[in-house]
Amino acid sequence: MKAPSPQGVTRSASLPGTFLDALPAEQRGEAEAVAQAWMGFLPGMERAIPAAQACPEEPALALLAGLVALLGQTPASAAAAARHLQVARRRADRLDGWGQGLLPLAELWLAGELGLALRAAEQLAAAHPEAPLTLKLAEWLCYLRGQAVHGARLLDLALWFGHHHPHHPDVRAIEAFAHELCGSLPAAERCALQAIELRSLNPWADHALLHALQRGGAVEKALALAEQRSPSWEQAAAPMALHNHWHWALLWLEAADAPAALRQWQQALVAQPVEQGTGELIDRIALNCRLELAAAEPLLPPFDPEWSALAEAIGDRVLQPEAPLIAAHYGWCLARAGCSGPLAALRGRVKQLAHHPEAVEPAWCWQPAGLAMLDGAVALAQGRHGDALALLEPARGWFPMAGGSDAQAQILDQMLLVAARACGRRPLVEQLVGRLRADRPQLTPLDRHWLSCC
Ligand SMILES: [Fe+2]
Repeated sequence: MKAPSPQGVTRSASLPGTFLDALPAEQRGEAEAVAQAWMGFLPGMERAIPAAQACPEEPALALLAGLVALLGQTPASAAAAARHLQVARRRADRLDGWGQGLLPLAELWLAGELGLALRAAEQLAAAHPEAPLTLKLAEWLCYLRGQAVHGARLLDLALWFGHHHPHHPDVRAIEAFAHELCGSLPAAERCALQAIELRSLNPWADHALLHALQRGGAVEKALALAEQRSPSWEQAAAPMALHNHWHWALLWLEAADAPAALRQWQQALVAQPVEQGTGELIDRIALNCRLELAAAEPLLPPFDPEWSALAEAIGDRVLQPEAPLIAAHYGWCLARAGCSGPLAALRGRVKQLAHHPEAVEPAWCWQPAGLAMLDGAVALAQGRHGDALALLEPARGWFPMAGGSDAQAQILDQMLLVAARACGRRPLVEQLVGRLRADRPQLTPLDRHWLSCC
């Protein structure tokens, strides 16, 4: 990356002073608060929307509100994002240089061109190291395209911003997560602990630690960490808190203690409102699915009441799956709930996304593997193990590119594992387990479960 521009770089601010200077004085604190909440996944991001509504012609606030709306992953939130970005476009001459680079990034993201948006983020980062929020946006774009295969790009960006903001607790937490995605587990742990030292309330650094410890198979250490750090998650944004509890429940599953995983997860859900965002919904579906996949008994019959409630919560999100992995989650849930209508709508949308000749992004994963992943997940959810194996096995090279973190994308490997076990494909099972446990000095109880009874 090009040489640093020290002007405007501050230690823990997340937006450039030039971006804020264009705002009325009373709105500057609000905009910076939104950005800082986003950087740390702390409460307050949602304030971007009323702030933009209060000043409807202010392009900087409209741009921030558009970006926050893009996280919603529903048709309504995409429409809201489009409205905010239109305002920002109309008054773009009043944005500073960073804002003028950020606007096309947001427009690419809205159009579903995530790869191009990520490239725009990288260019913007090089030109504007004074704006760490760009790093957080890039991290999300990497999430939607599969964070495991974008670890090196995210690490490159995190190191760049870390160079300019060595004491920024959120930059350091992102660097820790990027190290984990790259498989540099000691560096991930070291960085996460430094981030926590910089600011004790740091749920994203805790998250990186949970990832790293589970990946390394240090299940007991990770469980102790979750126990110790979880009280602070009450002060995190609700989706962040739930996601860390999700990791905690996964650790119990890794220890092959499904009742403990369920107990811990249900306790976490008590504090969550019924009205839930897309991230929480995906975590709920994923945890239930993983409990079913790891169960020693055959899958439970469909029409479980909990699956029906989750299927209802998905609603028109079937028209807005932002990544193939997310579509597979929705597909599993809808199939388990026996909701054939929404399932057909989801399948129709995935077909559209896979065959969109004017767009660049479909070639990334939708076109070669999106439908196979969805149909494979549905087949397995319906107990058609042979069909699931036939669909998922040829697509498995795309699993890390389907979206989500390395830990989230493992659900696809686990689906293939279950199908392979049911079909007696022992060599494939051993190969898959070998890949999943690659960073572990010894098998976890869940690894041993996957290798058993095949
Ligand atoms: Fe995670």
